[in-house]
Amino acid sequence: MGQDKYDFGLIGLGVMGRNFILNVADNNFKAFGYDLDEEKVSALQEEGGDTARVDATSDIVTFVAALAQPRKIMLLVPAGKIVDAVIENLLPHLEKDDIIIDGGNSFFTDTDRREAYLQSKGIHFFGAGVSGGAKGARKGPSIMPGGSKPGYREVQPIFEAVAAKFKGEPCVAYLGPKSAGNYVKMVHNGIEYGLMQLTSEIYDLLKKAGDFNNDELHETFAAWNNGRLQSFLVEITAEILKQEDDQGPGRLVDKILDKAKQKGTGKWTSQNAMDLGIPIPSIDIAVSMREISALKEERVNADKLYDRPTPTAMDKDVLAKMAEEALYFSFIVTYAQGLHQLADASKEYGYDLDLAVISKIWRAGCIIRAGLLEDIALAYNSDTTLPNLLVAPTFVEKIKSTVDAARELVAYSAKNGVPLPGLSNSLTYFDAYTSGRLPLNLIQAQRDHFGSHTYERTDKEGIFHTAWGA
Ligand code: 6PG
Repeated sequence: MGQDKYDFGLIGLGVMGRNFILNVADNNFKAFGYDLDEEKVSALQEEGGDTARVDATSDIVTFVAALAQPRKIMLLVPAGKIVDAVIENLLPHLEKDDIIIDGGNSFFTDTDRREAYLQSKGIHFFGAGVSGGAKGARKGPSIMPGGSKPGYREVQPIFEAVAAKFKGEPCVAYLGPKSAGNYVKMVHNGIEYGLMQLTSEIYDLLKKAGDFNNDELHETFAAWNNGRLQSFLVEITAEILKQEDDQGPGRLVDKILDKAKQKGTGKWTSQNAMDLGIPIPSIDIAVSMREISALKEERVNADKLYDRPTPTAMDKDVLAKMAEEALYFSFIVTYAQGLHQLADASKEYGYDLDLAVISKIWRAGCIIRAGLLEDIALAYNSDTTLPNLLVAPTFVEKIKSTVDAARELVAYSAKNGVPLPGLSNSLTYFDAYTSGRLPLNLIQAQRDHFGSHTYERTDKEGIFHTAWGA
C-alpha cells in the first residue's frame, strides 16, 4: 500500500458525493473523487482547499491509480442504468479484491445482480443505503451497508468515522448479505413517505379545524419536537413553517405548489410489500397521496363539482393535544409496518436482519431519525422474535394512551371533509391487526360460492366445499 495513495475513492461529485467525500477527508482519511464533469471536479478541489487529503479528477486511469489497494470505491450516482455504466467503465482498471460500494438508492434486485456479476470478476460489491440528505452526507449520515462482508470490513473504519453518532455509537452496521443494505434503505424511505404524509395532514387539520396560523403551527411543531415526537421531520416542519418568502410577503410554505414528486423508493416499498404479502397501508396511502397530489388540474376541476362541509371549529388546545397523540400513534403504527416488512423480507431473502441494530442506526443521521427509535431498539433488543411492534409490552401502553385521539380525529375528518388518509389507514390497520376475528369468513364463502375455491372451518381440520343454495 503506497504511502501517498488515497484511502477512499468516490465516483459522482454531485451535492451528495461532494459532501460525503469532504466528510471522509474531515475524518483524516485521504479521499479521491471522480466525475466526468470537470466543473464538479473543480468545485470539489476548491471546497477541499489546501488539504492534501482530498483531490479529484475527470480521468478514470488517474483516479484508479491514485487509490491504495484493495481499492475502495463508492458510487454516489443516480440509481438505474448509470450504475451499470459506471461499473463497466471502472472494471477494466480494477484488480482482484478491489471493492465497489453503491451508495445510491438502487433497487435491491439490481444490487443482487451486480453483486453476483462482480463476484465472478473477483470484485467485492456491496450496496449501502445512505440517508440524511446533503447535510447528513457532510456532517454524518446513517449508513446501511449489506453484501460482501469481507468488502465491508475493509471500509468499516471509514464508514464508522463518517457516520452520524448517537451517544457516541456510529449509525452504521453491516446489515446482512446480498442486497440487505439497499432493501433496508428502501423500507426506510417507505417509512419516510408515511411519516411525511402524516405530518402534512396533521398540519392541514390544525389549520382547518383549529384555524392555526403559521406562527402557531410553527410553535406547535417546535413544542412537539421537544417531547416524545422529537424527530427530524417534526423539527424541519417547525422550521419550514416560519420561513419567510424572499420573493414576496408571507411564508414560503403557502406559495409552494401542492404537487409532491417522488423518485420511486416509496412505491418500491409498497410494491414489494404486496409481493411479500405484508400489509403496510400507512405507507401505501402515502404513495397514493403523492399520486393524487400530482393530479392537480383534475383535482381543481373536481373541486368545483362538490360542496364540502365547513369544518366545525375546535378549541386550539384540545385539538393540539389530540393531534399530538394521534401523530404519535400513527408514527408508531408506520414504523411497525415498515419493521414488519423488514422481518418478513429477512426470511424471504435470507438477509438475517437484526431489527434492533437497524433501529439503532436509524437513531441519528437519517431522515426518519426520532426519539421513538430508541424505544423501538429496546423493544427488539428484549425480544428479537417480536412479530410486530404493536405487541411489544412497552408499545401496548403507548398505543393505549393515544388511540382514542386517533379515533376522535378520524371521526372528525370523515364528518368535516378534512382528509386524514394516513391517520385513518393507520387506525384501520391497528384495528384490523388487533382483531381476533375479521369478516373475511364471508369472503371465503363468496369465493367458494362463485368459484368453488374451498374454505377451512373453525371447528374442524380440512378443506371444504359447499354446493351453496342447493
Ligand atoms: C434519505 C432520503 C433520500 C431520498 C429523498 C427523496 O434518506 O436521505 O430518503 O434518499 O432520495 O428523500 O426521495 P423522493 O424523491 O422519493 O421523495
